[in-house]
Amino acid sequence: MYSYCILLVVSFLSVCSGIENQWKVQEFPNPIYQVEDCGRSADVEKSWICDPNKVISEQDVNDISDKLVEIYTNSRCNCAMCINNRTGYIVMVAIMPKMYRIINASNSMSDIIQDARVYSYYLSMYWGSFATCKQLVLLLISRDDGVVYTLTQMDARRKLTDEMVTK
Ligand SMILES: *[C@@H]1O[C@H](CO)[C@@H](O)[C@H](O)[C@H]1NC(C)=O
Ligand SMILES: *[C@@H]1O[C@H](CO)[C@@H](O)[C@H](O)[C@H]1NC(C)=O
Repeated sequence: MYSYCILLVVSFLSVCSGIENQWKVQEFPNPIYQVEDCGRSADVEKSWICDPNKVISEQDVNDISDKLVEIYTNSRCNCAMCINNRTGYIVMVAIMPKMYRIINASNSMSDIIQDARVYSYYLSMYWGSFATCKQLVLLLISRDDGVVYTLTQMDARRKLTDEMVTK
């Protein structure tokens, strides 16, 4: 199911186009607290996906959001809290037109990936403080960089092998 959801996200990249906007990592909206800044309607209570520039359609965002909730309810992570609460992995998705380059060593793909790793790490710090079981998976999608980067925390890594995540 994880790979299904992620494949879904990747396939949307090819149909995207539009405005350019580079978000600094500390300014990128948090989908839990800034629902509307994340491009969603105010009646959405909270979510784990943020697409402030509407890189993908609202319908696609809603569909992915439902999948993320499904993963959370149907999977189990390995600590007492997850087991008692019957909850599982939290997959959060950040979609942006173009990533703000934190290190910006060069425009080679490996340096872009290095920046994606750093960006995802910081974003996971801002977004994931509640993920005390290290059950967070963060998916960073930067359209113009052609990057889909997956950050997997320790416990999530145990179950979701990198191979599964990148499929
Ligand atoms: C569920 O998790 C929350 C923390 O997110 C915790 O405060 C609460 O006590 C847990 N509930 C159960 C039944 O374990
Ligand atoms: C990254 O470096 C290039 C030049 O190598 C520069 O044009 C660009 O503005 C820089 N991007 C950021 C976000 O600093």
